[in-house]
Amino acid sequence: MTIQEAKQRFGIIGTNSVLDRAIFKAIQVAATDISVLVTGESGVGKEYIPKIIHGLSHRKHKPLVAVNCGAIPEGTIDSELFGHEKGSFTGAVGGRKGYFEEADGGTIFLDEVGELPLGTQVRLLRVLETGEFIKVGSSKPQLTNVRVVGATNVNIMTAIDKNRFREDLYYRLNTVEIHLPPLRERKEDIHLLFRKFAQDFSQKYRLPAVRLSPDAVKTLEEYRWPGNIRQLRNLAEQLSVVETDREVNSETLLHYIPELGQRNLPMRSTDSPLSQSEFNTEREILYKVLFDMRTDLNNLRQMMNSLAGQQQEEQVPSAGSPSLPVVSTQRPMPAADRYIETTLSDAMDEDVVTNLQDVEAEMVRKALDRHKGKRKEAAAELGISERTLYRKIKQLDL
Ligand SMILES: Nc1ncnc2c1ncn2[C@@H]1O[C@H](COP(=O)(O)OP(=O)(O)OP(=O)(O)O)[C@@H](O)[C@H]1O
Ligand SMILES: [Mg+2]
Repeated sequence: MTIQEAKQRFGIIGTNSVLDRAIFKAIQVAATDISVLVTGESGVGKEYIPKIIHGLSHRKHKPLVAVNCGAIPEGTIDSELFGHEKGSFTGAVGGRKGYFEEADGGTIFLDEVGELPLGTQVRLLRVLETGEFIKVGSSKPQLTNVRVVGATNVNIMTAIDKNRFREDLYYRLNTVEIHLPPLRERKEDIHLLFRKFAQDFSQKYRLPAVRLSPDAVKTLEEYRWPGNIRQLRNLAEQLSVVETDREVNSETLLHYIPELGQRNLPMRSTDSPLSQSEFNTEREILYKVLFDMRTDLNNLRQMMNSLAGQQQEEQVPSAGSPSLPVVSTQRPMPAADRYIETTLSDAMDEDVVTNLQDVEAEMVRKALDRHKGKRKEAAAELGISERTLYRKIKQLDL
């Protein structure tokens, strides 16, 4: 099968060379039993890869079982994946087949595999290495013949560094890695995808298809697309339903993606408090988090600074007091990701933590509101797993 044929058969749109390479790799490995790890940001189309691999393999008449590892509560995940014996835990009135047994002869797609608890990772490693698994509450190993395709949108290397993901499992899973590029690195496909989605929604809602003016195309090509193709699809759907003028220009787009007006990277000065209406996008909330944390850390530093100054004065009365470096609040903000990585783990100050929790609660609440309480979608938008979201809802008492 050629790349073109695969695109047609699976409904994949795009001409980008990295996308083509990903599809090519999927076709090449399909006939083997090699484990594959699909990587890429949220909404880039990772779910197409296991479909191609399974659909073009000798396993195609057996089941393709897709499991969202991030959505299953930690307490039941082993039983869901590997099954359990009757009476193996309170409430286990009957025995149950796990997905690895159900998928026997076929393929299992472990979405958000980076979210698996460590204990489950051990069981998974065993299946991958020996084809053996043990049901919860049993001592008898069973055999299964399953091809595993995993997917992750988190940086799994970071998870390994933090001992949240086993390195041996990582190397076992990603015998072949298939990477899907983010939409901002496939600018040439943005208009193409938009036209396809506009066409689909025009049929669905029985309305003429929306079109983009040349300046709107340019605006969308310059945008960062944190939610990637899923976000573009949502935008096309909203425009299709809401706009009466079927040609959309860049000004109209501002109503849908407010951050476009802020050139994607808003910078704030310390003396302008955020108003409620400015909180509309996750990015802004994220910046608010960073901003608050930075202010708190600065206050802390200044406090330490003046304490150090006092001590100096007591010890060496006449010396010009050298001071600890103060981080200027006007300093350009570092890349958000890096900042969160380093700063969140360092933020031990109680106030910072309380403050963060408030902002986090607000972020979660807004995402849930926007998706009418649908956790899967809210979690995707927040860039966290459903299980993490579930935990947060409980923890933040929402
Ligand atoms: N190349 C493409 N052509 C057409 N539609 C696409 C393409 N890539 C993604 N999509 C659509 O975008 C949406 C998101 O894709 P998908 O669910 O595969 O994302 P994902 O990478 O699994 O994201 P997540 O990590 O959040 O689960 C789906 O509706 C999918 O059909
Ligand atoms: Mg997915």
